[in-house]
Amino acid sequence: MSLPRNFLWGGATAANQFEGGVYEGGKGLNTADVITAGSHTVSRKITFTTKEGEKRSQDIMPFKDLPDGAICDVQDGYYYPSHVGIDFYHRYKEDIAMFAEMGFKCFRLSINWARLFPMGDETEPNEEGLLFYDNVFDELRKYQIEPVVTISHYETPLGLVNKYGGWLDRRCVDFYVNYCKTLFTRYKGKVKYWMTFNEINIMGMLPFFAGGVIKNNPQVQAQAVHHQFVASAKVVKLGHEIDPENKIGLMVAYGATYGLTCKPEDQVLAMEDTRRRHFYSDVMVRGYYPVYKLKEYERQGVTLVMEEGDEQILKEGCVDYLGFSYYTSNCVTSEKGEAIGGNFSMGVKNPYIKASDWGWQIDGMGLRIALNTLWERYQKPLFIVENGLGAVDKIEEDGSIQDDYRIAYLKEHIEQMDIAVNKDGVDLIGYTPWGCIDLVSAGTGEMKKRYGFIYVDRDDQGNGTLKRTKKKSFDWYKKVIESNGADLEIK
Ligand code: BG6
Repeated sequence: MSLPRNFLWGGATAANQFEGGVYEGGKGLNTADVITAGSHTVSRKITFTTKEGEKRSQDIMPFKDLPDGAICDVQDGYYYPSHVGIDFYHRYKEDIAMFAEMGFKCFRLSINWARLFPMGDETEPNEEGLLFYDNVFDELRKYQIEPVVTISHYETPLGLVNKYGGWLDRRCVDFYVNYCKTLFTRYKGKVKYWMTFNEINIMGMLPFFAGGVIKNNPQVQAQAVHHQFVASAKVVKLGHEIDPENKIGLMVAYGATYGLTCKPEDQVLAMEDTRRRHFYSDVMVRGYYPVYKLKEYERQGVTLVMEEGDEQILKEGCVDYLGFSYYTSNCVTSEKGEAIGGNFSMGVKNPYIKASDWGWQIDGMGLRIALNTLWERYQKPLFIVENGLGAVDKIEEDGSIQDDYRIAYLKEHIEQMDIAVNKDGVDLIGYTPWGCIDLVSAGTGEMKKRYGFIYVDRDDQGNGTLKRTKKKSFDWYKKVIESNGADLEIK
């Protein structure tokens, strides 16, 4: 089997996890820049100063309210992994050349909003920031690599957080629209594929990550994401007006949810969990709020403030395609089960499948289910913009990295992707495995949790030369792309 002729094979990254250059080129700080490193067992922390002037920090997971008037800031004595990332800011030419060697047809990256608008609320952009992305896009074009751009990937400018309280404030809609207008105008002809917000559904769990919101409750989550829905719809319309060639998509954290047993209660829980994910794409693909959500808001006592015209805006700004991340599936049950983590998702252990070292369950078939569910529900092109295995890599004595476990994971998922396309008829336009080059983990802040085809010499404390080395999976993925998915053999 093989994939359609113009299939977009590539890899995915995000600015705050790999770019670095935190204070360079006039860049301002963003939410990721005040989140410390954590570990498998220790949560990352947000650092801030209280209105009484006390320097403090607080766990990002689970996320609890920061005190009123807290100002998020960088403090001495902490390590913030976003500040250097893997230094793509200075090494983009070398990195892109390696992506080209693998045969990438596309490359997913995000724009660091605060590099263009250092505080977030300026009217005019920072030219030096714009130039940096011009250079990156030109470098990609040199190798005929299509950029796939996430406009906001857990990188709300800190100015918007400290001055406005992040996306809870409606004014962020206008700041974002202005930012997008700048992007669409400046990069017209250079970028065609956009996604408005990375994993927008994370607002329902970690509003600080998703939109720089320092409180966490259903009311706040609902209002902040409403603002993002409106902003997204506005820029979909605007993006089409500026360049009809633009394809503007949404991006959600997806997965498959199973009832742990065939007990009807477990199946109902699975239905509800799936619906929890679908809420976001329902609004962004269909252009209106689904009734089940409005009923839930009623039950929770959530009052959504909608401005006149919002309903029309949502209707007129439906996305062109659905981008989603898929790492794992989870099980739910009304009985007791062994709790297990996932990509910002919770559930219980599935006895039939294995899990990664970080407890994310590995389930290729779940990807086929996810693809079919989304395709049947929306009939819009799908794009798997994240998938992969976070694992510890060992450097052998000869310097090589034999990451067969990563190859096995990707193979299992690509096989199911093939079935979804060729047997089920799903319209899938591309596949960009996460962290194609090792980068900082969003969940834990570690470097040790590696996803890449390319190894980067940097550890959890920030030591290392940042040297790039090809892993075994590099040549394997190159062959997969060359054969358009037909040759998945592991040698
Ligand atoms: C997704 C995010 O949730 O999963 C990425 O969009 C993130 O930013 C990826 O890095 C993998 O998660 P983690 O915690 O292993 O980095």
